[in-house]
Amino acid sequence: MGVMEWLEFPASDQLVAALVARIEELLSAGIRERGQATLAVSGGSTPLPLFARLSEMELGWDRVTIALVDERWVDTGSEDSNENLVRRHLLQKKAAAARFVGMKNDAATARAGEEACAARLQTLPCPWDCLILGMGNDGHTASLFPGAANLAAAVDLHSGRICMAIQPPAAPHERMSLTLPSILNSRQLILHLQGAEKKKVLAQAQEDGDAAEMPIRYVLRQQTAPLAVYLSL
Ligand code: 6PG
Repeated sequence: MGVMEWLEFPASDQLVAALVARIEELLSAGIRERGQATLAVSGGSTPLPLFARLSEMELGWDRVTIALVDERWVDTGSEDSNENLVRRHLLQKKAAAARFVGMKNDAATARAGEEACAARLQTLPCPWDCLILGMGNDGHTASLFPGAANLAAAVDLHSGRICMAIQPPAAPHERMSLTLPSILNSRQLILHLQGAEKKKVLAQAQEDGDAAEMPIRYVLRQQTAPLAVYLSL
């Protein structure tokens, strides 16, 4: 198990307040040290209250680039699009000044769009100052799904690939995901979890077992990037 910080809160709003302050510190440090900062965010329902509070935060947002950890290969106007989610909930108010770099392009499939997506992401200053992950109840994180055909390639630390198309065996839509090496190329990883069920799944992921069966284990077991778990019931 890598070095892990564990922050548990009795309620979501306390977690969100603490996490907003943490993100402010991380992005401000990036701006101070490099003149700009990068924030990678996940989709799903967990980050919605965080996005709302972050969008109101005072920061030099015009020096911040926001990108996605993963995307569903659907129209960017779709309800299922993470780009759409981030545009509606995060790139608002003060955070509207941030630059956004999405993953979806005009290619018919994520596989066909992989190269163009990677070329776009490669222009971003790395490491990520802060990268926020969620986790599904099947132990997936980003779009690293258990049972996905090319999971082994997506978690290969020597692939040299920044993103990869993934077909989840059970969840809807073909995805584009940052690969494990690009996720770990972060100054700070945050795992943001809400609810007793997620706590239970995380406890299970912390047990011994095949990482491919619960891909969050690749993140829990690595020693490359500092990881902070933010959990509320
Ligand atoms: C996505 C995500 C995904 C998400 C988990 C948790 O776009 O689906 O990036 O990895 O973080 O599925 O989702 P919830 O927050 O909805 O539980």
